[in-house]
Amino acid sequence: MNQISPVQTDTAAMAATPDLRRVNSNPDFWYPVAWSADLRKNKTLAVSFAGIPMVLVRPEEGTVFALFDRCPHRQVPLSKGTVNGQTVRCCYHGWAFGRSGRCIDVPYLGKGKMPNGVRTFPVREAGGLIFVFPGDAAKAESTPFPKLAQTDNPKYKTKHFSPRVNCHYTFMHENLMDMNHQFLHRRQMGQIKARFLGQDKGEDFIEARYSFMRCAGQQPLAERLIFGKHKDLNGKEQPVEEVVTIRTEYPYQTLRITDKDGDLIMDLWTAYVPVDKDERITQSFGLLSILRPQTPLLIDLIWPALGWFTNRIFLEDKEIVELEQAAWNEVGHDRNVEIFPVVKALRELLTRCGIPQDAAPQADAAPAAPAPCPTEPETTA
Ligand code: FES
Ligand SMILES: [Fe+2]
Repeated sequence: MNQISPVQTDTAAMAATPDLRRVNSNPDFWYPVAWSADLRKNKTLAVSFAGIPMVLVRPEEGTVFALFDRCPHRQVPLSKGTVNGQTVRCCYHGWAFGRSGRCIDVPYLGKGKMPNGVRTFPVREAGGLIFVFPGDAAKAESTPFPKLAQTDNPKYKTKHFSPRVNCHYTFMHENLMDMNHQFLHRRQMGQIKARFLGQDKGEDFIEARYSFMRCAGQQPLAERLIFGKHKDLNGKEQPVEEVVTIRTEYPYQTLRITDKDGDLIMDLWTAYVPVDKDERITQSFGLLSILRPQTPLLIDLIWPALGWFTNRIFLEDKEIVELEQAAWNEVGHDRNVEIFPVVKALRELLTRCGIPQDAAPQADAAPAAPAPCPTEPETTA
């Protein structure tokens, strides 16, 4: 009988499982693409999802709408155009498109048959973010919309952040889920060890719970201000009472911290949005809600320190995930040796819920069936 070598087993496993870094984000979800504050009335904003160019338009009246950001005439970005009423007019020859994507005016054509329109994307605005539904628009209505940290709860103050990271979105999920990487942050956080408390998983989520032990060093000031001073045990291992729960509920990720009384003191919501067609650039959007301390104004005093502290930690994470991507680029496939069951399960989840790159639709095949001539009034002003 033939013996199977470990190398053969590895190769067989690689062939059976798609490379995680070649699994695209599933477009049939709501993804944030911009902050509401960055899109003023009567203005456009160019954004993208996995290489699909989109223009967001905020008219003077009514809600934001999103169109494919290429004029069907000569492929000039519509985001370079101007907004008039419920339309955006291309900057080149002045063709105008309504919020339904129809072409409703060609200034030099008179009232003849209008050319084809452009694809539209469902839009929602919540928690200070503009979301689009890049996939099958027919599914948008029935697709659950995420709970955005504590943005609607006045007991919390929420910080916005949106760093761009040069790596596949799956590295970001792995990084946050695997709290054993606190070693990386030892200069910012002191020496702490994660203690894994347990996990839960389902068809579209995985959740891991941790507590932390401080082994040496001081509790950082920003942490002390948020959580209160931990007991000083004179160098002995110090148990930290808070429980940290990290959850990837596809395609979003959350990190929640509860104190020893079970009160939610920190609630982080993030989405990792692919920018380019190969999904090697990720635009993160994060909402970090902190329970306001009893002393009014204290939160405003500690806010800059908190921003500085979280940014320092994030920069360490960014450098690492970009190095992971660079290593993948060198060899062109995933050579990771994963030993932590939670991360193994996370990788399975991301593979299951995503779209293998070979099966993903072409980004530039985005314009849908041509929109016909207008049959209902859509005015230019
Ligand atoms: S390119 Fe847009 S109107 Fe000509
Ligand atoms: Fe980290």
